[in-house]
Amino acid sequence: MADPFDFEKPARYAVMGNPVAHSKSPRIHTLFAHQFKHHIEYTAIQVDDGGFAQAVEQFRANGGAGLNVTVPFKQEAFHLADHLSERAKIAQAVNTLRFEPDGRLFGDNTDGTGLVHDLDKNLGVPLKDRRILVLGAGGAVRGVLAPLLKHRPALIVIANRTLSKARDLAEEFAHYGKVEASGFKELKGKHFDLVINGTAASLKGEVPPLPDNLFTTNALAYDMMYGEKSKPFLDWAAVHGAKQVEDGLGMLVEQAAESYLIWRGVRPETRSVIERLRAEG
Ligand code: ATR
Repeated sequence: MADPFDFEKPARYAVMGNPVAHSKSPRIHTLFAHQFKHHIEYTAIQVDDGGFAQAVEQFRANGGAGLNVTVPFKQEAFHLADHLSERAKIAQAVNTLRFEPDGRLFGDNTDGTGLVHDLDKNLGVPLKDRRILVLGAGGAVRGVLAPLLKHRPALIVIANRTLSKARDLAEEFAHYGKVEASGFKELKGKHFDLVINGTAASLKGEVPPLPDNLFTTNALAYDMMYGEKSKPFLDWAAVHGAKQVEDGLGMLVEQAAESYLIWRGVRPETRSVIERLRAEG
């Protein structure tokens, strides 16, 4: 493993996924490194199906210090890691890998912390005693439930197209706080202060079939995706009474800052990076 504090050679990091060409992670981590004058190299590596473990090994052999992992390899990274943080165990997914000096592979998950940081610190949205609706019951949602519940909302309703998956998650996370499962239709007549879209519907330009009047007066609609992919849901939410709509760019930067902390021991300042990315489009 390369010494991340060797100032001669850059410390090597990368994001692995498929697709990964348009990832903002190399830009984000380069901006972070500038803050500390760290000498790093951060690339995006596209990995074919079935080639993840080998790609990780090759990256390590070439002196890599750490990796981010994105769709569709987060579960595979979870199984590949030799030891895991508590939050990665709960999420059953890994988005951050660190090559340890003793040769072991450490796996962590910073997605949930990233979301909570963005809501709480950047957007100033209180979570305590709020009624939160989370749309979707896949890997993305599993990763954020425990961090959200730790902030003691009044209730989290998990609504999903396949009700059984929402029920399984609600049952599994019940000991963290008040959490219920629902279908989309059954949301009629219920109101929420915060609605978080964690479905993959936007990838097809679709919005889950939600009832009107879902939002309380000052409600925030948040999409865990950013940019164009977040538009179908956020446009729908703006028309249907959300007071504020926000995409997941802040979450992306915050999860990256947590990864940087795991690798380098310092947490970068994020606000200026989010502003810079917004300006760059
Ligand atoms: P991820 O890891 O990104 O969460 P996933 O595990 O495949 O991906 O989960 C995708 C989520 O988006 C699921 O909750 C899925 O609903 P189902 O469990 O019913 O499949 C949801 N989803 C995908 N397309 C959708 C659509 N067109 N409308 C509503 N929900 C959708």
